[in-house]
Amino acid sequence: MTTAAIIVAAGRGTRAGGDLPKQWQMLAGRRVVDHTLDAFRAAPGIGRIVLVLHPEDIARFAPADDVTVVIGGDTRAQSVRNGLEALTAHDPATVLIHDAARPCVKPAHIARIASAVSDGTARAAAPALAVTDALWQGQDGCVAGTQDRTGLYRAQTPQAFSFRDILLAHRAHQGDAADDVEVARAAGIDVMIVGGDEDNLKITGPEDFARAENIKRDQMDIRTGSGYDVHRFGSGDHIMLCGVKIPHERGLQGHSDADVGMHALTDAIYGALAEGDIGRHFPPSDPQWKGAESHIFLSHAVRLAGDNRFEINNMDVTLICEQPKIGPHADSMRRALSAITGVALERISVKATTSERLGFTGRGEGIAAQAVVTLVSR
Ligand code: CTP
Ligand code: MG
Repeated sequence: MTTAAIIVAAGRGTRAGGDLPKQWQMLAGRRVVDHTLDAFRAAPGIGRIVLVLHPEDIARFAPADDVTVVIGGDTRAQSVRNGLEALTAHDPATVLIHDAARPCVKPAHIARIASAVSDGTARAAAPALAVTDALWQGQDGCVAGTQDRTGLYRAQTPQAFSFRDILLAHRAHQGDAADDVEVARAAGIDVMIVGGDEDNLKITGPEDFARAENIKRDQMDIRTGSGYDVHRFGSGDHIMLCGVKIPHERGLQGHSDADVGMHALTDAIYGALAEGDIGRHFPPSDPQWKGAESHIFLSHAVRLAGDNRFEINNMDVTLICEQPKIGPHADSMRRALSAITGVALERISVKATTSERLGFTGRGEGIAAQAVVTLVSR
């Protein structure tokens, strides 16, 4: 491992207010800290993430294989120090240090800052934005003077350092510090300024939640996928449709259980992810999938969506056949699909149409199914 990240989340968020410290409050449907963690998970080249938590918050975080939890201290500097000490066993070349309270940080931005140090361009690098507003001094509610803004910056995180440098700098540092750049500079380390990102705000006051929510909404990645499948009728006494066994005078032929509805739905998810189709993930030439129950395919597609940090927002399946009648089974199908995918029932639609006795479905030669899904990035 060459690059690690420390995310400090042990503060109490007194300025932000609310029932919980700000990093545990909800933002665009998820906790602030989960947004921050996922940005680092998605950033290329980060080998290990250390999450620094307040002792009272440990139970709030479900253990995850890729995250090492460390107890923080009374000051931000002490929390960072604890994170650094926990990394000594891993001894990464580069370490990024980030505030959990900046949940809108983008993975590409993280990677850019890390590479300034890991590729040797700088010994330390930190993002900042030049101050563009006029600066005033104020006294008793009135402007008491102006301040030259030339050369002034607003500092952000993540800040990147050589691990050994910043570990030794923190060990030598007394008291708190505004950030780790202050600690590094006190140890004589030059820090290169790299471009900051206006969207990478730190949630500080209660009003910042609304700003962060807007930014998250703009960053949202929405994907739609469609799927289509057909299976031919053959001998048998039942068919499987969307996970429900329906008695019928004929069965559907296929390599697996021939659940045409579930196949269309599975392909729609693969389609939204641009991940091919069922045949690519479960080749019909492979005998282990003969007679396979189709929930295996659907579960795989759902897992792949999750691995790519997508959630299924909704799904809509249309079954096209004259017989059997789908209406009486539609709600059981929705429940079956909900149990397999974990998607809420009210976000799942199963409906049916005949084709007015036209074409192969009209002649009762087989059943066709179409599906549409929408995935939303987390
Ligand atoms: N932090 C920390 N340990 C501390 C203090 C702060 O890990 N003892 C973390 C916070 O959780 C936050 C980051 O450092 O992610 C930046 O600090 P700040 O924005 O000041 O957060 P809080 O200290 O939680 O907020 P406040 O100052 O309003 O209480
Ligand atoms: Mg603070």
